[in-house]
Amino acid sequence: MRILLSGIAALGLAMAVMPAAQAEPIKIKFSHVVADSTPKGKGALEFKRLVEQRLPGKVVVEVYPNSQLFGDAKEMEALLLGDVQIIAPSLSKFSKFTSKLQVFDLPFLFDDIHAIDRFQKGKIGQGLLTSMESKGYTGLGYWHNGMKQMSANKPLRVPEDAKGLKFRIQSSDVLEAQFKALGSNPQKMAFAEVYQALQTGTVDGQENTWSNIYSQKFHEAQKYITETNHGVIDYMVVTNTKFWKGLPNDVRPVVEKAMAEATVFANKLADDINEADKKKILESGKTEIITLTKEQAAQWRKAMAPVYKQFEPEVGKDLIDAALASNTAG
Ligand code: LMR
Repeated sequence: MRILLSGIAALGLAMAVMPAAQAEPIKIKFSHVVADSTPKGKGALEFKRLVEQRLPGKVVVEVYPNSQLFGDAKEMEALLLGDVQIIAPSLSKFSKFTSKLQVFDLPFLFDDIHAIDRFQKGKIGQGLLTSMESKGYTGLGYWHNGMKQMSANKPLRVPEDAKGLKFRIQSSDVLEAQFKALGSNPQKMAFAEVYQALQTGTVDGQENTWSNIYSQKFHEAQKYITETNHGVIDYMVVTNTKFWKGLPNDVRPVVEKAMAEATVFANKLADDINEADKKKILESGKTEIITLTKEQAAQWRKAMAPVYKQFEPEVGKDLIDAALASNTAG
């Protein structure tokens, strides 16, 4: 009996000192649809680096770029199911969950990425991060990509040039309305399918940032890119609310700090990556970049303006006005 008891005691002692070493690390899968070389790709890798450096053996972050794990259609559902723990869809892809984020898609709303940054960092922007908690999603931060340019196989100089063309769009009703206002044919399509659709002529054109155009080689399938800067592609990094709140108390603050630092890191890089990729596209000689005159730019703005009135009831005038005000509140 004594032997048995001391055996049990020894086992107990061994278990008391071992669990930390033997506990399975918490796995955070971070899935996104773009390349590692883009602002979002680099931000995700920086988050992984920081977390694994600070919580060695406790947390592992697996990053899946290029729609490898989940594409646009499935990632929000996968997040709720716990098949992935962090995703970072563009702000255009949340309209099923909240109408408020549609504000970001309004054409010519923000003058540049700095205005967007001010709006996101303000009270209203920060409030939007928690606007989907009742549906199980928590926003962890905004990550920048940049301003959108428009591409096609014919030169787009004035809005009439886009008439009758088929454009691939993200799954956003605002973007659909934007192209309809031009008399074009918008088609919602997952990001992973765009290159092939351009190559085979399923669509005639698309709108995206320089970094997405370059990393996906869209410029090799499009003869012209017009520097319209007519809208923005930015992201909300989102997690599963239950998963995040359930992280152990000694883990969550460290992961949160790593996310805050990765956010600063990615947002600092975004402008430079887009500028560098624009240069690479120009140097490739595979496409022509068209610069608009002031008068031409004004025509695009005017042609897309009706979208504001159309979405004002859903998005809210206050929200639109607050976003517009960020252009001057420098
Ligand atoms: C797109 O679908 O064009 C973009 O949202 C992709 C991305 O994540 O930047």
